[in-house]
Amino acid sequence: MSERQEELKFAYWVPNVSGGLVVSTIEQRTDWSVEYNQKLAQTAERAGFDYALSQIRFTAGYGADNQHESVSFSQALLHATTKLKVLAAILPGPWSPAVVAKQIATIDHISNGRIGINVVSGWFKGEFTAIGEPWLEHDERYRRSREFIEALKGIWTQDNFTYRGDFYRFNNYTLSPKPVQKPYPEIFQGGSSRAARDNAASVSDWYFTNGNTPENLKLQIDDIQVKAAKNDHKVRIGVNAFVIARDTEEEARAVLDDIIAHAHVEAVHAFGDAARQAGSASPEGEGNWAKSTFEDLVQYNDGFRTNLIGTPRQIAERIVELKAVGVDLILAGFLHFIEEVEYFGQKVLPLVRELEETALRRKAA
Ligand SMILES: Cc1cc2nc3c(=O)[nH]c(=O)nc-3n(C[C@H](O)[C@H](O)[C@H](O)COP(=O)(O)O)c2cc1C
Repeated sequence: MSERQEELKFAYWVPNVSGGLVVSTIEQRTDWSVEYNQKLAQTAERAGFDYALSQIRFTAGYGADNQHESVSFSQALLHATTKLKVLAAILPGPWSPAVVAKQIATIDHISNGRIGINVVSGWFKGEFTAIGEPWLEHDERYRRSREFIEALKGIWTQDNFTYRGDFYRFNNYTLSPKPVQKPYPEIFQGGSSRAARDNAASVSDWYFTNGNTPENLKLQIDDIQVKAAKNDHKVRIGVNAFVIARDTEEEARAVLDDIIAHAHVEAVHAFGDAARQAGSASPEGEGNWAKSTFEDLVQYNDGFRTNLIGTPRQIAERIVELKAVGVDLILAGFLHFIEEVEYFGQKVLPLVRELEETALRRKAA
C-alpha cells in the first residue's frame, strides 16, 4: 500500500439542518443556508477535507427545526466545488433502491464521480409515523438496509439485474448510464449495534459510528474486521468527533464547558428519550446512545467522547491514536464551522500528516 493510500481521510458534517451540531443555546456561527454551506464546502476542500456528509431528517428534532433534503442539497455543494466528495444520507423506507440508483448515477455524471451515499437505517419512530412509513423492528431495519445495499450494487454493476429479496425485487433490470465511479459510488453506513456491524462486515464500503474512546472503538473495529475477513469483505471505518481546537487547552475546555452549560435541556432530554429507546432497541442493547450521558447527548452523535478537544498538537496526537486502533476517517463537527474548518486545515491537518509520516517511517525501519 502506498503512503498516500494509508493517509487518514477527513470528512465534515454538512449543517443542512438548522441549530448547528450541538443542542445548546451557545452562539454558533454556523448556518444551514445553501449560501453558507457552499462557502463552507469550498473552505473545506481548500483546507484538505476529503468528504462532506449531509444529514437526512424528515421532521424536526432536538432543535433542528428546518432541514434541507440530503440528495438535492448535496448537488448544491457539488456545483460549488471541484474536488470534495459529497455523501448524501439515504434512508431506506422513504427511498427505494431503484430511485437512489438512478438519481445517484446521474449525479455521479454531473459531478464527475464525486457523489457517495450514507445509508442510515432509521432510529426515530416518530419521523416514520409522521410520513406514513411503516416502522420495522431494529434488526429488520438492518435486514432491509442490507438488501437495499445489495440491490444498489447489483444495479450499478450488472446488466439484466435480477434480485429476489424480502423487501426488494428486480427483474432483468438494466440501468443506463451506469455511474462514472467504478465499480460504483462509495457506500457508507451508520450505526453501532450488532446488526450495523454485521452489515458493515458484509456489504458496506465504510462503517460510520458515533464518537467514542480509542479503547471502545477498538472493540467495535476488531469485531467488524474479524467478521469482514471471514466474509472476504473490505470495509473501512469512520468515527464521529466534535472538534474544539484552540491555541490553548484551557480555551478549548472552556468552550466545551460553555456548550454544556448552555445545553438546551428540554431538547436534549427529548432527543435522549428517543435515542435511548433506539439505543436499547437492538436485541443486544449495544446500539448508538445505549450508554450516552446527558453531556454526551448535547452533541447528538456522542462527538465529545472522542475527545478531539485541546490544542492542535493534542488533537493531532489523539487522531493518530485513533488511526492506530483501525480508524480510517475522522468525521468532524465544529461550533463555528467555516472559521474552525479553516483553523483545522491550517493547524491540525499538517501535524497529523507529520505524525503519520513519522509512524510510517518507524514501521518501515
Ligand atoms: C455518522 C452517522 C451519521 C448518521 N446520519 C443519520 C442521518 O442523517 N439520518 C438519520 O436518520 N440517521 C442517521 N444516523 C443514525 C444511524 O443510521 C442509526 O439509525 C443509528 O445510529 C442507530 O443505529 P444502531 O441501533 O445500529 O446503533 C447516523 C449515524 C451515524 C453514526
